[in-house]
Amino acid sequence: MKVLWNEEIVDESEVKIDIEDRGYQFGDGIYEVIRIYDGYMYMEKEHLDRLWVSAEKIRMTLPFTREELSQRLHRLAQEVGLENARVYFQVTRGTATLKDAVDSAFEEYLKDPKNFIYAIGSVVGPHPFPKMVRDFQSIIGNEIKEQTHHRFGKNPDYIVACVGGGSNAIGAFTAFLNDSDVKLVGVEPAGHGLETHMHSATLTLGKPSQIHGMACYVLENEAGEPLPVHSIASGLDYPGVGPQHSFLKDLGRVEYSTATDQECLDAFMTLSRVEGIVPALESSHAVAWAIREAPKLSKETMIVVNLSGRGDKDSDYVAEKLKL
Ligand SMILES: Cc1ncc(COP(=O)(O)O)c(C=O)c1O
Repeated sequence: MKVLWNEEIVDESEVKIDIEDRGYQFGDGIYEVIRIYDGYMYMEKEHLDRLWVSAEKIRMTLPFTREELSQRLHRLAQEVGLENARVYFQVTRGTATLKDAVDSAFEEYLKDPKNFIYAIGSVVGPHPFPKMVRDFQSIIGNEIKEQTHHRFGKNPDYIVACVGGGSNAIGAFTAFLNDSDVKLVGVEPAGHGLETHMHSATLTLGKPSQIHGMACYVLENEAGEPLPVHSIASGLDYPGVGPQHSFLKDLGRVEYSTATDQECLDAFMTLSRVEGIVPALESSHAVAWAIREAPKLSKETMIVVNLSGRGDKDSDYVAEKLKL
């Protein structure tokens, strides 16, 4: 199915949020359905009028004029060759990526910074937020250090963590930054592959720039606009990355690698089946790295894989995806 997504007519498979995602659509969006008879859009004006009334009711600013939307709908109908059909169109507050969430959070915060509290769950945004989140998260690395010393009497050889904005990774790494014997690996989402545009491998393929009030690596187009990003893990689809990671990459202290959606799914299933631990799809990227790289290392090598979250939230999605 072809869909009108933002300003483009694309295949449904390319849309970040599945167009049939009812919870998303009705959670924060409005829609209209226009009948087309013999190529004629029946009561188009009335439908558009109602869309604008609905938008006003949920205080949504529509990012196009009536004429622009009408033109796009006609273009869609023409391109797909609709003669007798229904056009269902949905307007939602964003594409539900992490970038949109951060955009919305900033937008709300800046409306009333005295009475609003800005809280962010990743090491992104302007100073001091990345620093604050890193400091809170660094308990993870302190704990890893204490436990590996307690059980094995030494530091681990590797610490591996997935990187979206980078909070769980920086949390795991911070206690070891000065321990040169510990290799630190951040794993970014390669999505459908680094050669496609469907990935979110910011440190791997991005360039130094700015986003959301911070200087960091960014996946952006030539005009400096952030690129649409993709990952099977909803918490990893962000075109920027924390400034500390950008610095650590430049220093060469942390190695940034990638895992594809498929590797992530395989890792999700393997860890669930072999260990009975269901990892979040985000964390499964780090697991995928370990599954891929561990066989190349000696059996004595100690690898700590940071499981940033549980996979309960993802199990229905994975079951559907793998037709289980
Ligand atoms: C379980 C889980 N892990 C990892 C992440 C990625 O965030 P970060 O890169 O900041 O750790 C998210 C983000 O939502 C998440 O939900």
